[in-house]
Amino acid sequence: MAEREALASEDGPSGGVRILFVGDLVGGIGRRTLLECLPLLRERLQPTFVVVNGENVAGGLGITPKSANQLFAGGVDAITLGNHTYHRREIYPYLDSEPRIVRPANFLRGQPGHGACVVEGAGGERLGVVNLSGNLHLRAGRSAFTEIETALGELGEVDQILVDMHAEATSEKVAMGWHLDGRVTAVVGTHTHVPTADARVLPGGTAYITDVGMTGPRGGVIGVKREQAIESLLTQMPVRFETSEEDPWLMGVLIRCAATPMRAESIEQILMPRP
Ligand SMILES: [Fe+2]
Ligand SMILES: [Fe+2]
Repeated sequence: MAEREALASEDGPSGGVRILFVGDLVGGIGRRTLLECLPLLRERLQPTFVVVNGENVAGGLGITPKSANQLFAGGVDAITLGNHTYHRREIYPYLDSEPRIVRPANFLRGQPGHGACVVEGAGGERLGVVNLSGNLHLRAGRSAFTEIETALGELGEVDQILVDMHAEATSEKVAMGWHLDGRVTAVVGTHTHVPTADARVLPGGTAYITDVGMTGPRGGVIGVKREQAIESLLTQMPVRFETSEEDPWLMGVLIRCAATPMRAESIEQILMPRP
């Protein structure tokens, strides 16, 4: 049935477009898990676009030009970020010069990088990618709810739009889903590293999930070695955190786009162990 729907939708200008969005890659283990899962996922899901959140890919915090280049070389079309964007200084000029990597659009204008980009598929399909940061418990200079309008306006002619709403509070993410319903193809939440069970297409046609989860070690505490996380909570003293390597999984979603621009047909959660 899903196959028939996919074939039927291929008549329209953006029908048949599939977006694989993968949640926060945590450390080298997260990057390797993605790159090892990707061939299998390409075969099974045939994504037109692969977009990943890379804010934790460099040793668990931030991203470096080297790790970003490895992701692009591995077939990633665009990278989104979040509150850890500026952890590694060497990424600052890269954020300005590489169009395919976006940091939250509602950061201050003076901060390095940009919040929106457009990537093109093999068939000429144009996907707009926007990154936002929540304003509750996260540092973002401007409101996600007002700045999204500017970011959408910057995209120009596109067939579909994916918004990564990187936020701590579920309420902000749910509200952003409703705010953009019918105007973008998908609003996907990131940051908490724990997948939520609420993936659905909203009535206006926007695919939505509060958090897609992380790509990294399930054996830790949202990416950190569990003994260290527990020690920190137990002793209330500073503890040096390292990325866990235990039980790595890929967590993401596949969004099947409708033939009509800015509309999704379905959103499917992808949760798989490293092969
Ligand atoms: Fe993260
Ligand atoms: Fe984050």
